[in-house]
Amino acid sequence: KKKGFIFDLDGVIVDTAKYHFLAWQQLAKGLDINFTEEENEQLKGVSRVRSLEKILAWGNKTISQEMFESLMAKKNEEYLSYIADMDSEEILPDVPRVLKTLIDGNQPIALGSASKNARTILERVNLKSQFDAIVDGNDVSKAKPDPEVFLIAAQQINMKPEDCIVFEDSVAGVEAANTANMISIGIGSKDVLGHANYVFNDFTEISDDFIKSLIEK
Ligand code: G6P
Ligand code: MG
Repeated sequence: KKKGFIFDLDGVIVDTAKYHFLAWQQLAKGLDINFTEEENEQLKGVSRVRSLEKILAWGNKTISQEMFESLMAKKNEEYLSYIADMDSEEILPDVPRVLKTLIDGNQPIALGSASKNARTILERVNLKSQFDAIVDGNDVSKAKPDPEVFLIAAQQINMKPEDCIVFEDSVAGVEAANTANMISIGIGSKDVLGHANYVFNDFTEISDDFIKSLIEK
């Protein structure tokens, strides 16, 4: 039997969610806008444009299109400086084991990320070759919670949406997976990701037997 396994990147495969947070926080501070960790949960999985729109809305700020573009560029520069010397040490625990289980079992694997930096990061941590398809922020027009990114990923690995399983750390991403009619597996806290079909703190809690049970379902 075959299932399509679709992985989000930031906060699922690598711990870059903290760098996105730091970069946005820095930028918000410069605009005199404060946002909490709770509000940050709403930025996870959300595109760069949409994230800045949300931050500006929280701070009740309107800015020119020019300023908007320049702030987005600034955020990305800051973010890129954080990930500049990233290597495979930043792969989250047991991600390689789960990928190996899937590859050994001939299961198709795709990346479904909102990030335009996804390919760069996969190369840095030396995981690019493990994916049969990579769909990222350069390939989609609608941001999560829209299911577009996962639907394209499913198509690229020739799997029906209902035969796909999505690993996600974000509220928006779990919603996107659910809307796409896929099985959603939340990576993080149950309090935040209660709308997922399953929730685990991290991949160390996901056994090979559980993976096999998903494939047999
Ligand atoms: C991921 C992250 C978000 C980020 C988005 C766009 O989904 O979880 O925090 O805003 O990608 O990333 P980018 O690297 O293109 O700014
Ligand atoms: Mg994520």
